[in-house]
Amino acid sequence: MANNAMPQPQLLLLLLLLLLQLLLVTFVLVVDAKSNVTSIIVFGDSSVDTGNNNQIVTIAKSDFEPYGRDFPGGRPTGRFSNGRVATDLISEAFGIKPIIPAYLDPAYNITDFVDGVCFASAATGYDNATSQVLNVIPLWKQVEYFKDYQKKLKRYLGAKKAHWMLKEALYMVSLGTNDFLENYYATSRRSSQYNIEEYQDFLISIAESFAREMYNLGARKMSMGGLAPMGCMPLERTVYDMDRGGCVEQYNMVAMEFNGKLEAMVARLRAQLKGFRLVYSNVYDTVLQAIENPSTYGFENVADGCCGTGMYEMGYLCDKYNPFTCKDASKYIFWDSFHPTERTDQIVAEHVMKTSLAEFV
Ligand SMILES: *[C@@H]1O[C@H](CO)[C@@H](O)[C@H](O)[C@H]1NC(C)=O
Ligand SMILES: *[C@@H]1O[C@H](CO)[C@@H](O)[C@H](O)[C@H]1NC(C)=O
Ligand SMILES: *[C@@H]1O[C@H](CO)[C@@H](O)[C@H](O)[C@H]1NC(C)=O
Repeated sequence: MANNAMPQPQLLLLLLLLLLQLLLVTFVLVVDAKSNVTSIIVFGDSSVDTGNNNQIVTIAKSDFEPYGRDFPGGRPTGRFSNGRVATDLISEAFGIKPIIPAYLDPAYNITDFVDGVCFASAATGYDNATSQVLNVIPLWKQVEYFKDYQKKLKRYLGAKKAHWMLKEALYMVSLGTNDFLENYYATSRRSSQYNIEEYQDFLISIAESFAREMYNLGARKMSMGGLAPMGCMPLERTVYDMDRGGCVEQYNMVAMEFNGKLEAMVARLRAQLKGFRLVYSNVYDTVLQAIENPSTYGFENVADGCCGTGMYEMGYLCDKYNPFTCKDASKYIFWDSFHPTERTDQIVAEHVMKTSLAEFV
């Protein structure tokens, strides 16, 4: 009986069925183990504002062309970018939605905010005084809007489901640049009161109170983003480095020191508050690497914004008729003199998904 060694057709079928079952079980397990992040809730400044400033009276706006020219539909939305911002891209990477709506945008309501909402406001900072410079939404007011959102979500989903959504949501926080560049170094209000180390500590204490308050309001997964190398922004190069050859080292140092303090505060709070998965997201190193090795990422220009001359234009100065505006923003690190292109934000988003946010994926 030579066919003893050969599996019978029935046996083969059984094996196949077993294999199929195994595959199915594995598949179900994989789906089961998927991220619980079903919503991204954003606080911050222009790095993540998706249109809240369109609804307030301020000059810190970008709801006109050429902003948004690479956004779906080529539409300006109030994002300070040619396309989407990092938090949009992170929402998409989590398999949620490709854009995060602004809470104040009348085109949206609670049905659109269930799986992600943005409270950020361009030109704001941790410091109340920063938000006063251009009359934008202070961080404490963003928290008030969040409380209002919580109430609406409970009404819409019921208390139990809303509580679960808010607990599993990922809270993303990105601000601080304006505290230094728009406030501390541009006006005397804080610089006459604090030296730079003291001012950093003051901001960190506000960041800590904010994180504690969010924890008390139910947040359990939160990312606090560090500062980018702000001395490399085209505007700072224009103001402080006439030949535009390098970054303003002093500002990069201040950003690095602030980031170190923020990272330490985050670690301390995480150890202290039970069940609080608070992480620090490093933006600085990723952006600096791109500035130092542009060709690796397909960049051709690291020093100028795409918009206009690239030296000083942002907001209303970034004009759609300016003939100097670049053709292909994906070759530029900066979109305007103060903000990255969508391509840069994509690199940042990919990096944080693999590092700080990996524990939530
Ligand atoms: C998803 O939620 C469950 C139950 O709360 C928890 O055990 C699991 O660790 C969570 N998974 C992630 C990736 O957060
Ligand atoms: C939200 O807006 C949609 C239309 O965009 C409308 O059909 C719906 O009734 C609104 N829901 C609430 C809760 O206001
Ligand atoms: C900022 O302003 C709010 C509202 O007036 C206030 O409650 C808060 O204490 C202020 N924050 C700081 C750090 O002064």
